[in-house]
Amino acid sequence: MEIERVGTGVPGLDTFMGGGIPKGIDVVVHGDPGSGKTSFAIQFAKNGLENGESCIFVELDILPGELRKKMHMLGLDAEKYEEDGRLIIVDGVSGKRVGTCSRERYVIKDPRDLNSIAKTISDARQYLGEGGRIIIDSWASIALNFTSEYRGLIRFTEAFVVESRNSNYTTLLITDFSVEDRLMKILRHIASGYIEFLTRFEGNSKRRYILIHNLRFTSHVETPIPYTINSKGLRVIESRL
Ligand SMILES: Nc1ncnc2c1ncn2[C@@H]1O[C@H](COP(=O)(O)OP(=O)(O)O)[C@@H](O)[C@H]1O
Ligand SMILES: [Mg+2]
Repeated sequence: MEIERVGTGVPGLDTFMGGGIPKGIDVVVHGDPGSGKTSFAIQFAKNGLENGESCIFVELDILPGELRKKMHMLGLDAEKYEEDGRLIIVDGVSGKRVGTCSRERYVIKDPRDLNSIAKTISDARQYLGEGGRIIIDSWASIALNFTSEYRGLIRFTEAFVVESRNSNYTTLLITDFSVEDRLMKILRHIASGYIEFLTRFEGNSKRRYILIHNLRFTSHVETPIPYTINSKGLRVIESRL
């Protein structure tokens, strides 16, 4: 049986992974701050929206207004898709600050509370229905509130992943170096894929690579794939292949 795949939205990348990410799986995207994870997530969302899919963007690092601005810079007209009822931006930042109000329709009341996060995501899913894409930017921000006792966090993540698979959502879980090794291993065990953004200094210049560690149902390239970031987002550098 042929596996249905979705595009990443990054020019040049899909060919390295058999044509794209298998539809309905969950992938951990790991990288240092500034490596382009949020940009990647926006390109991934844009690709889905342009192909008629719905998208839930759970944003826990920057305010929704800032995210919409970033989306516009990368050519995604957020408000248009929100009005069409195909894009939901979940505000996971305002609730972190006491006394801050949000005018957003989807707000996580208490981002430190896993039930509160799960409820808002479930409301969004219920509104959009079956199939689509969901991004948690970032899962690392959720994990920051848990230092040694991970049982609740693991249970929450497993339930989230199962629910996403059942409702046929292709999922990105974004992480960074703030996640402890042991927890990272557990997350990789739960998820169906693991992609890392690497930054290396070669001489005086900074080089960026995408490394696909594993991706279910996919025979992928095993070597680091060079990429750049500019005002249009991430792009694979073909000349260096
Ligand atoms: N307009 C732009 N021109 C060039 N580089 C940009 C532009 N916008 C963002 N970047 C690059 O993208 C990086 C931030 O990307 P972002 O997706 O926010 O990373 P992350 O989410 O991993 O922290 C910046 O460090 C910068 O290098
Ligand atoms: Mg980011």
